[in-house]
Amino acid sequence: MWKKALGILALTVLTVTIGGLAFLYFRKPAMAKPSSSSVPMTAQRIARGKYLFEVVADCDGCHSERDFSRFAGPLIAGRRGKGFAFPAELGLPGNVVAPNLTPDRETGLGAWTDGDKIRAIRDGVSRDGRALFPVMGYPRFRHMSDEDVEALVAFMNTLAPVRNPLPTTSLMFPVSLLVKSDPRPAGNVAAPDRSDKLRYGQYLANLAGCQECHTRAERGRPVGQPFAGGEEFRFSESLMAVSANISPDPETGIGRWSERRFLDTFYQYKPYLAEGSPKSGPERFTVMPWLGFAQMEPEDLKAIYTYLMTQPPVNNKVETRPGYGR
Ligand code: HEC
Ligand code: HEC
Repeated sequence: MWKKALGILALTVLTVTIGGLAFLYFRKPAMAKPSSSSVPMTAQRIARGKYLFEVVADCDGCHSERDFSRFAGPLIAGRRGKGFAFPAELGLPGNVVAPNLTPDRETGLGAWTDGDKIRAIRDGVSRDGRALFPVMGYPRFRHMSDEDVEALVAFMNTLAPVRNPLPTTSLMFPVSLLVKSDPRPAGNVAAPDRSDKLRYGQYLANLAGCQECHTRAERGRPVGQPFAGGEEFRFSESLMAVSANISPDPETGIGRWSERRFLDTFYQYKPYLAEGSPKSGPERFTVMPWLGFAQMEPEDLKAIYTYLMTQPPVNNKVETRPGYGR
């Protein structure tokens, strides 16, 4: 009697498990049809898109080739948007590759419509319907306004095509199946009201990924307190940086920072933009996009500061370069 019941139970569990896996395996991510209209290529749109790509949303950070022997990894000339394979040391669940975004027809986005690009950026679905791994920031980019995403695409269309064949991301099981539940159609997104400093700051901080990098994560998913830092970025045996606590805690975060000090922290790197970023070793290694953010408009940095100061303070002491002091 017991044996029979257990047998039935085991069989049920097995059937449900297999059924569940089969469901996930064949399941398609939630997706909308890409828009069929092309983005109008005006000078204003392209300029805004350049600012978003290079400065605010730091698309360069992952999709361009960078020289990490220099402070904050400046871009290598002519390699913008050509794609980048993430180092295994980062501990991501699989082989993650940020694709070539240049308009090269074979190895980049040359054959994509503008609608395909908008859908990939905000909804997280590649042209062929594949769910993108959310290290690509679509869970935050889905809040990007229609104007801003169109501006981004207009700028991406002006990139010089670079031929650079790269493998496609391959994720480990079960992440390979779970990732299908991450995409979601963004629909239409209204632009934030810039006179509402707090909301505008939240909008910018979201595009800039402050929370994403400044929150401890495991296998690419947040597990720590927002903005409390402590996330490790390991590029190799010797190159490692830990994100700082940027919550407004007075002892361990930026709670005592004035707006001026906040801005100066970013603008101190402006000279590197003109003179070139100096050679640097493990003691100054960072993934914080200082070179991009140093070009942020003062109004935008002030809005981000306003927003950060409204977040819950978290007492969490972080050493950003363990073993090297600060
Ligand atoms: C933190 C790293 C990171 C940042 C920042 C980032 N991306 Fe990505 N992006 C990726 C990765 C990784 C993939 C591929 C994911 C996959 O294949 O599952 C990707 C995929 C894409 C794709 C789909 C390409 C394809 O062939 O499927 C587009 C388009 C794209 N990114 C555009 C952007 C834009 C525009 C920005 C800035 C607003 C940006 N990305 C910022 C990492 C990043
Ligand atoms: C790609 C990851 C990444 C992103 C995105 C990022 N940060 Fe950072 N940030 C770091 C790391 C790592 C450090 C520690 C190393 C260093 O100071 O350069 C850091 C350091 C800082 C510091 C210095 C704190 C101190 O005590 O000196 C501030 C301030 C800061 N980040 C603010 C921000 C803000 C604001 C944003 C969004 C606009 C942001 N960060 C986005 C990774 C990131």
